[in-house]
Amino acid sequence: MNGKISKKAVFSLLKNGEKISGEALAKQLGVSRQALHKQVQKLRGLGYDIPGMPKSGYFLKGRTELLLPEEFLPGLKTRKFGKNYVYLDLTDSTQNRAKELAEKGAPEGTLVLAEKQSAGRGRLGRRWVSPPGGLWASLILRPRVHPQAVPFLSLVASMAVHDAIRDAAGISCTLKWPNDVWVLSKSRSSSSQEPAFYRKAAGILLEMSAESEKVHWVVLGFGIDVNNTIPKNLSSLAISLKEASGSSLSRQWLLSLVLKNLETFYGKFLQGQISLLKLGYKKRSLFIGRDVALSVSGGRIHGKFLDIDLDGALILQKPDRRLKKVLAGEILSPDS
Ligand code: BTN
Repeated sequence: MNGKISKKAVFSLLKNGEKISGEALAKQLGVSRQALHKQVQKLRGLGYDIPGMPKSGYFLKGRTELLLPEEFLPGLKTRKFGKNYVYLDLTDSTQNRAKELAEKGAPEGTLVLAEKQSAGRGRLGRRWVSPPGGLWASLILRPRVHPQAVPFLSLVASMAVHDAIRDAAGISCTLKWPNDVWVLSKSRSSSSQEPAFYRKAAGILLEMSAESEKVHWVVLGFGIDVNNTIPKNLSSLAISLKEASGSSLSRQWLLSLVLKNLETFYGKFLQGQISLLKLGYKKRSLFIGRDVALSVSGGRIHGKFLDIDLDGALILQKPDRRLKKVLAGEILSPDS
């Protein structure tokens, strides 16, 4: 008996849900019953419901909601994405961890996920509130494309997240250029005359390291408000999937769908199927063909959201009918 034991080993023996005596379990693991009890306590701390004591025996009654590798990886149906999985309870931003790993040569498809972020980042230098219950993750990519082609990847990612939310939560979603996913939310009270409207449930943040012709790495971050609570000051703009669909959602299921979709769309991106992807994006976008107000670095502009360019830019038709290409900015509202 060397007394060394891991939570994973205890978990693998409890997984079949049958009751097993502390003595038998300790024997199989080659540890003392005290050491075993300590690890069982740790698993309980992670949210596993394990009734029992060393004398009477243990069994696994309820699984945890956490995205622990042993919970998440068995259900993951991708070839590469997420297979190298870095799981953290708390970090400042998964973007920072993923960037460090990318610099050290971590392979394409490495996923960094945190249950909570203390300094989550959004687009345009904004803060991204990341309490427990959401999905906060960053994926390392190493596309062999020209750096100028990379921004289109954020549109690709938003489609992957859009489809995963639609399929996992069964709610109507739309894309808001460039890469926000909005979901249909009902009016706040059933008696209210307030119409249904869309609110943001997910966003994408893309960061890259490149030289003139070569991409070293891309870190694709996605944040989805799943079962978490939205702070009051943001509740007119943002909504969790739990609130939008009326029930909690399995984050494990949603994450595996996101990664599966991402891998498929990314494959098409690498094959150069940009026109097809662009068409797919436009089909999912509520704002296309509508008059919009845009906030850009030089202020506010208006026009008709005519098309998406092959680099992901928005093509706006201004009131004087001239076309303007917008590479970065935000749709403030549909004008009509
Ligand atoms: C946005 O819509 O502004 C983009 C939000 C991106 C948030 C995610 S959460 C995981 C990853 N880590 C971060 O700090 N940001 C991204």
